[in-house]
Amino acid sequence: MHPAIAIDGPAASGKSTVAKRIAERLGYTFINTGAMYRAITWYALQQGINPQDTSAVIELLKSIPLKFGKEGSQSIVICDGSILKEQLTLPEVNDNVSVIAAIPEVRALLVDKQREYNLCEPVVMEGRDIGTVVFPNTKFKYFVTASEEVRAARRAAEGLTDSIAERDKKDSSRAASPLTQAKDARLVDTSDMNIDQVVDLITQDIQSKLA
Ligand code: CDP
Repeated sequence: MHPAIAIDGPAASGKSTVAKRIAERLGYTFINTGAMYRAITWYALQQGINPQDTSAVIELLKSIPLKFGKEGSQSIVICDGSILKEQLTLPEVNDNVSVIAAIPEVRALLVDKQREYNLCEPVVMEGRDIGTVVFPNTKFKYFVTASEEVRAARRAAEGLTDSIAERDKKDSSRAASPLTQAKDARLVDTSDMNIDQVVDLITQDIQSKLA
C-alpha cells in the first residue's frame, strides 16, 4: 500500500499549487483530478455535444480517445498524441465542467483511473471527492479552503474568467459525490495564509503521521 494524500476543496482555494508543492517535497506524484473532468468537458464540447444531454455524454465515454498518463511526476491528459493544457481552462470549459462532473458514469470512469495512479506509487491527489470517495480509507485528508472573496481575487489574479461561486454551488449540491469535507479531514482555511505556510503545515502533518 502506497500513501495517498487527499486534498479537497472549493474552486480557487489554492489546492492545486499546494498539492503540487507537497508532492515535490515528499517526492510523490501529483495528480490533478480536475484536469480529468475538464478534459472530458473539452472533448465533449469539441464534438458538439451539449453537456446537458447526459445520454450523449455517456455514449461518448465508450469511445473517448483520452489517455490519462504521467509526465515526470505529474498527471497529464493526452488527446491524439498531444498533452492538453490551455484547452482545459477555456471559459467554456469552466462554464460546463460542473455539469459533466455531475454525471455518475463520468465519475465512475475517472475514479477508477484515479485509483490506478496509486497502485504502484504514492500520490498527492487534489479534487473534490478524494477523501470522501476515491480514497476513503487514507489517513491523510485535507480540506483546503478560503473565503469566497479571497478565492475570487486569486482566480482574477491568474487572469482567468471563472464563475467560481456558480461552480461551487453546483459541485456542492449534486447528488453524485458532492464537494464536502470528509469527517476525518483536517480543515485548512488559507484566507490569511501564504502558500509556504499552507505547504509547511500540511507536509509536517503528513510527516508526523508517516513517522
Ligand atoms: O482548479 P479549480 O478548483 O478551479 O477546479 P478543478 O480542480 O480544475 O475542477 C474543475 C471542476 O471539476 C470542479 O468544479 C468540479 O465540477 C469537477 N471536479 C470534480 O467534480 N471532482 C474532482 N475530484 C475534481 C474536479
